[in-house]
Amino acid sequence: MKIDVVTIFPEMIRSGLSHSIIKRAQEAGRVQVAAHDPRDHTTDRHRSTDDTPYGGGAGMVMRPGPIFAAVESLEPPPDARIVMLTPQGKTLTQAMAHEFAQASHLILLCGHYEGFDERVREHLATDEISIGDYVLTGGELPALVLIDAVVRLLPGVLGSEESAAGDTFSDGLLEYPQYTRPPDFRGWTIPEVLLSGNHAAIANWRRKEQFRRTQSRRPDLWSAFQPSKSDLKLLKQLSEETPSPPAGESSEEN
Ligand SMILES: C[S@@+](CC[C@H](N)C(=O)[O-])C[C@H]1O[C@@H](n2cnc3c(N)ncnc32)[C@H](O)[C@@H]1O
Repeated sequence: MKIDVVTIFPEMIRSGLSHSIIKRAQEAGRVQVAAHDPRDHTTDRHRSTDDTPYGGGAGMVMRPGPIFAAVESLEPPPDARIVMLTPQGKTLTQAMAHEFAQASHLILLCGHYEGFDERVREHLATDEISIGDYVLTGGELPALVLIDAVVRLLPGVLGSEESAAGDTFSDGLLEYPQYTRPPDFRGWTIPEVLLSGNHAAIANWRRKEQFRRTQSRRPDLWSAFQPSKSDLKLLKQLSEETPSPPAGESSEEN
């Protein structure tokens, strides 16, 4: 996969990608990431990438010319996904990360100030992505978030010590709780079943914990969840194990 990032702060992207798994993925040739400065596509003396808004008002707007020229210089194939990072876009989800991981070429556009001239959205971007309902100063952190979420899903990127299969959201549920050594830390012990060596019992316990967590923390995910036949059996067991709270009391974890 090829990822190009158009940003007036290319170093933010380069330094953000020069660690850990994402660095190794680049070294192993699983992904090629490059950052491009739209200033290199300006023609004026000041190499300006922003200008005042038509109609007046505070702030500056990213000029369309240098952004279009930077993208066109990359000669994107017709199926390239040209993603504008914007708080007004669709909120990034794990399902969207999986979808972007199928693309052969992603181009990410990082805004600043008041954002992009609207013609970038209308005539250049194929996708508009937000990383959440808050406003950041620029698109570089959102671009890094998107790259991280996508690259870890590419084949061969996660080693055996990491895995995406059981992650939260991977099957529409939150992940079960995880423990490591010691089994007793300051008097807080781990669930017995995890020491039993009984793989089927451990798998059932984990699945039930996923149900319990998702039900109490993310009712939105829970209502969309489609249980399998074996899930339905476990859900029945879970409801027998967990007495319903008296009316008016919540079953939420504290
Ligand atoms: C200060 S923001 C512009 C906000 C814009 N005036 C608005 O109200 O929609 C500057 C840039 O940061 C990036 N940005 C800020 N918050 C973001 C978010 N939640 N998700 C994705 N990108 C974001 C975008 O690239 C945006 O163009």
